[in-house]
Amino acid sequence: MRLRATSTSPATVEADVLAVPIYREDAEMSPDLADLDAASGGAISAAIAWGEFNPLEHASALIGGGELPSGRLLLLNAGARGRGAWRARRLAMVATRQLNGRGAATLALWLRDGEGDNAWAAAAAGAVAGTYRATAVYGRVRDTDAMKRSVAEVLCIGAGSQDALDRGTEIGEGMAFGRDLANRSANDLSPERMAEVALELTADGCTVEILEPEQMAELGMGLLLGVGQGAAHPPRLIAVKLPGWEKAADGERLAIVGKGVCFDSGGISIKPAENMGDMKHDKSGAAAVIAAARTVARLAPETPLMAVAPMVENMPGGNAQRPGDVVRAMNGMTVEVTNTDAEGRLILADAMTWAERQGATHIVDVATLTGAQAMAFGDQISAYFARPREWGERIAAAAEEAGEWFWEMPLAVEYRASYDSPHADIVNSGTRDGSLIKSAVFLSEFVTVPWVHIDIAGPAYLGAEKPHGPKGATGAAVGALVQLALDFSGGRVNRESNGESA
Ligand code: BES
Ligand code: MN
Ligand code: ZN
Repeated sequence: MRLRATSTSPATVEADVLAVPIYREDAEMSPDLADLDAASGGAISAAIAWGEFNPLEHASALIGGGELPSGRLLLLNAGARGRGAWRARRLAMVATRQLNGRGAATLALWLRDGEGDNAWAAAAAGAVAGTYRATAVYGRVRDTDAMKRSVAEVLCIGAGSQDALDRGTEIGEGMAFGRDLANRSANDLSPERMAEVALELTADGCTVEILEPEQMAELGMGLLLGVGQGAAHPPRLIAVKLPGWEKAADGERLAIVGKGVCFDSGGISIKPAENMGDMKHDKSGAAAVIAAARTVARLAPETPLMAVAPMVENMPGGNAQRPGDVVRAMNGMTVEVTNTDAEGRLILADAMTWAERQGATHIVDVATLTGAQAMAFGDQISAYFARPREWGERIAAAAEEAGEWFWEMPLAVEYRASYDSPHADIVNSGTRDGSLIKSAVFLSEFVTVPWVHIDIAGPAYLGAEKPHGPKGATGAAVGALVQLALDFSGGRVNRESNGESA
């Protein structure tokens, strides 16, 4: 998909479809909207009067453009004004998604609010994301060529740069790559297969290292090995280093670590059957960090970034880890596994220790870690924990710039005592109360550098189709991670390496 900035006004732009957000504040039509309505010959007010579009009922409506050069208008329920980049991304997602399978080749996008480069980059990512089809992974017999049609060009009306649109387009494509990985079923995408996918990032100039169980054993990764020991498919630890990683040996280096559970049956502490199939999405953190690494490698290869993905299947079986087992982490701590379903924190612990030994000065982990996160936040908001909180502010700013919705939770180490074990240094799970916070407290025992933990259990996938996306993986955290990495390198690195001044 191509995105282009245009200086044309909505009343004069020529596109197959012009997207028009209707904000809550438009109950009395705002002047800019009234002008467009007049230019169309009253098409918008007529649609509202006829109930063709009612923001209380409809996410969107496609109506005729009346006297406008654009043939059709896509009225979008935009909610209240504000949340700039987030709303821009969402509106663009809904807009292109509603036009999938239709005849529109060009879409003009008029945000009417929150313009500027962040909003435009987010809108570009959203426009690309709106064309994403989960069936793209395996296809579907009834997909005809006509059904596969989607918008090819988006004209952005207002104030923003082409640079921002290009960056956002790249992020949208990175999200699609991550979504494809996260949507792949567990019989298809095993830890070994994920490693094969990661190896393809050498084409983007990355250095890819894959650790196999023998090397994990030598390194003392008892937590990662313990989770993986019940599965027919053995674990892998994937590391993708950008060209800028080695060069920053004496400076700041960012490691993004993603939970890669190809399937989470719960293990011996097995989950109930209902919705267990959704647990193929338990590798969404790994998919997000690999997709983010590929995107940053394309946008700013000199960024000192490494993606780390511990990959396992959490399965019951004759050799599976048992509740009560005690395992030793790479950092030397012993863990009593009281619940084999609290596996994400175990694999992340060893992966973060390894990332630090590789020279990471800052760590962000991303994980579908707790059902409690999904219960508390739903599918739109990610929860993060930070130590120190100033480092968290940088992630929050990156998420905001990228149009993602993050919210901070307290890293209450005062709960540490509830994870005391009579047989080991710590247990991996306790009672349900406070389990979202306590999962982060557990992780905090395995990191010594500035660190943020992002729990994306809710936002990683949609349980059902929505106006902004199909059922399945959403690409959550990809945009925020890319933006963080770009901010981390100050945006300077790439331009300097091209011989331009910063
Ligand atoms: N992968 C799950 C968390 C999850 C649940 C993600 C639902 C997305 C949707 C994780 O491994 C898990 O099982 N967590 C347990 C932890 C508990 C045993 C301490 C949970 O949240 O119930
Ligand atoms: Mn689990
Ligand atoms: Zn899990």
